[in-house]
Formats: sequence, C-alpha cells, structure tokens
Amino acid sequence: MLEDKDRIFLNLYGFGDWRLKGAQARGGWDNTKAIIDKGRDWVINEMKASGLRGRGGAGFPTGLKWSFMPKPDPARPSYLVVNADESEPGTCKDREILRNDPHLLIEGCLIASFAMQAHACYIYIRGEYRLEYARVQAAIEQAYAAKLVGKDNVHGWPFDIYVHHGAGAYICGEESALLESLEGKKGMPRMKPPFPANMGLYGHPTTVNNVESIAVAPAILRRGAAWFSSFGAENNKGTKLFCISGHVNRPCNVEEAMSIPFRELIDRHCGGIRGGWDNLLAVIPGGSSVPVVPAHEIADAAMDFDTLRNLKSALGTAAVIVMDKSTDIVRAITRISYFYKHESCGQCTPCREGTGWMWRVLTRMSEGRAQKREIDLLLEVSTEIEGHTICALGDAAAWPVQGLIRHFRHEIEKKIDDYAANPHSEPVAGLSAAAE
Ligand code: NAI
Ligand code: SF4
Repeated sequence: MLEDKDRIFLNLYGFGDWRLKGAQARGGWDNTKAIIDKGRDWVINEMKASGLRGRGGAGFPTGLKWSFMPKPDPARPSYLVVNADESEPGTCKDREILRNDPHLLIEGCLIASFAMQAHACYIYIRGEYRLEYARVQAAIEQAYAAKLVGKDNVHGWPFDIYVHHGAGAYICGEESALLESLEGKKGMPRMKPPFPANMGLYGHPTTVNNVESIAVAPAILRRGAAWFSSFGAENNKGTKLFCISGHVNRPCNVEEAMSIPFRELIDRHCGGIRGGWDNLLAVIPGGSSVPVVPAHEIADAAMDFDTLRNLKSALGTAAVIVMDKSTDIVRAITRISYFYKHESCGQCTPCREGTGWMWRVLTRMSEGRAQKREIDLLLEVSTEIEGHTICALGDAAAWPVQGLIRHFRHEIEKKIDDYAANPHSEPVAGLSAAAE
C-alpha cells in the first residue's frame, strides 16, 4: 500500500496548478543540476538499480534501454522520443500526466536526454489529446522562459524539446511506426531488429520511452533507487499508475505500489466491485490487448508483470477493465476484435486478413450462428497470427481471443446451443451493425 508521502504524481487529479510555479511547489525542477552534475554513468546506473521497467506496456528495463545508446558521434546525433500516443483501450494514465503535471515529463526529458547524450527530444502526443497537447506546449514554453531547457539553460546541457501532435492512428503508438510518422511518412511499423537504439529517428540512435517511464525518472534520481525499489515484489519494482474502469463502484486513475493485490486495489480505491465480489466475472488487467482473467484467478493476484504473466495474461499498460456478471463476455471480446481489425495497418498478411476473419467469426459466434468445431479453428488461426507479424498488433489481436476461448469456451457453446434451439435472424446490436 502506497502512503501519500511516497506518491510521485501529486497532481494526478488536477486539483493543483499544472504550470511551472505549481510544479516547483510540488518539488519539481528541484536542484536538477545536481543530478546532471553527477554524470551520465551515475544516472544510468541509478535507473538500472531502481528496477524501473518500461511503463508503456512491454516492461523492458528502462535503465538498460538507456545504456544501449552509443557514445556521442557528431555524425550521428542521438534522440529521445517520448511515446505519448496513448491509445490502448482502457488506458488513460499518461493523459493525466500530460494534462496535470507536464513539468514532471519535461524535467524527465532533460535528464534522460542528458543520460543518453541527446540534445533534442520529441514528444509524440496522441491526436485526440488536444488539451494535453496545448498544456505540454505551454509548459515547454514556461520551461524555455525560465531557462530550464534550451540551448543555454541553467543546467548546462544544451537541449531542445519539440511536440508533435498525431492524427489519431492507433498504430502510431508502436514505436517504429511512431518514428516513421515523425519523419513525415505513413505510420507503418518497421522490422526489428535493428532496434531504435541502433537505427531510430532519421536513422540515428534513438530511445523511445513511455510518458510515465520518463516522468518518474526525476523522483527516482532525487529520492534514490533504493527508495523506488522498496515498493513492489522482486523484478517488479516501484510505484505504478493504474487506470481502473468498468464495473467497479468508483472507476479511477490511481498511483499505487507495484504488486498490490487486485482485491486491495479495487476495495481501497474503487469502493469494491459493483454488486459485490461475488458478482465479479472477469478482468482484463492491462489494456485491451492482454488476455482476460477469470474472477477466481485474479481476485487475490498481485498486480505486476510476473504474476499476471504466470496467469497467461499481462500487466501491459495497467489499464484494469473490470467486468461483472452482467457482461456478455463473448460480445465484449468481439468488440475488441473489431478494434484491432480496424487499426491494422494492413502491411502483413496474417494481421490484415486474420484480424478481419477473427472478427467476422466472433460476430457470428456472438449471435450463436456458428458451429462448435469453429471454436478450435478460431483458436488455431489466432495462434497462426501470434508471433508471425511485423509488430505486436498481431499478438494484441490474437491474445484476447485466446483468453476468451481458454476461460469462456462454455459461453460460446451456450450461444451456439441457444441459437440451435431457437434460430433467429436479428443481429446482435452493435456488432453486425459495425460490418464493413
Ligand atoms: P517490445 O517488447 O518489442 O519492446 C519493448 C521496448 O524494448 C521497445 O522500446 C524496444 O525497442 C526495446 N527492446 C526490446 N528488445 C530489445 C533489444 N534486444 N535491444 C534493444 N531494445 C530492445 O514491445 P513493443 O512492441 O514495443 O510494445 C508492446 C506493448 O505495448 C504491449 O505489451 C502493449 O501492452 C503495449 N501497448 C501500449 C499502448 C499504449 O497506449 N500505451 C498501445 C498499444 C500497445
Ligand atoms: Fe501492420 Fe498488423 Fe503487420 Fe503490425 S502486425 S505491421 S499493424 S499489418
């Protein structure tokens, strides 16, 4: 359980002032030069020791990622790119940072860029985040005016920062598609490797980090790696923003200690499950791309990378989508399936064809107009998509379907039996209506 004194995001709900004065009153930009003066190696080692794993969803160790950046080479400048294209359904944590505490991010950008010897940073903000774009841009102007950033800033590390506003494509949140988009091209993922640390923006060494990963860095470096790693379980350290939506009494965004048990997270911050704990059906614990976990498995599970992976799901973006027993789980996953079909960039065949095929089969299954043998066929096709595509969108489309079949096959079969007993022609509202 996280105490108030240990929270990093002190203006998460926007009750305070988001501007420079407000940020400084909350401890932001406090002696940043002292951190810079400790040197690049100290910063990277401290980030490694903190145990911070990337907060964008994949959980790659942040300090390690920073250490991949090559030594400075005038012919190949290094860049920091902040992925603020937060688009994973259920996820709205970075939005609150951009909106309510943008200076945490800007200070983090300066320190991270120094650690990677980058003199320029680009923040790529989701197209729909208009207020957030305006806030971050205004906060950057405040930081320039106060000489906190810029070519001759008070910290002694020449540094410029730019904001790019996206145009609303989910796939531009995939880091290599984001780089393509920043370069002015169509946002289509690149093959990896090479990873951005070797060949990123304009072919130069680049680190792409999530907003939350960068925004926690100043607090880690000020308070110390040992403080940050005192929260959470082994290999799952620190504090974490959780976005809790769905059938809880009070949906919210909250900062908590990593590895907090699901039950404690919900009872403490959301006033429990709607209708009580016996009414819980299932939870998608990390944004729409991770498999659903049934109530009896998640109720007392620790909310962290390793525990949820052992449950064949993932922490992902920590967007916790709670579903009670009123949920038509087949229909819910069908709707998610439509999302991935719609957002596929169409570059590789398993994803382009497979996402549409899975959605059409699931739509029929939602209505009961299917045969039971098709359930195994659907599972087989999903495993053919998984791992056979250029980017993780293929996996993201396959995993929710696999989770549905693993835990709720009986619900699909029931729909098929009901339809066989009582054939009807009305489509399920909101699903077939979405047909191309
Ligand atoms: P990934 O595991 O391929 O990579 C994670 C990061 O580590 C990347 O920055 C990558 O460049 C780096 N990396 C991995 N292996 C490396 C190596 N050997 N050398 C150097 N760098 C290496 O995962 P990916 O595709 O970047 O992200 C997938 C995750 O994104 C999903 O788990 C999902 O939860 C999340 N996601 C988040 C969204 C959001 O709105 N925040 C939207 C959609 C997905
Ligand atoms: Fe595009 Fe899908 Fe292939 Fe990713 S997996 S590159 S979104 S077609």
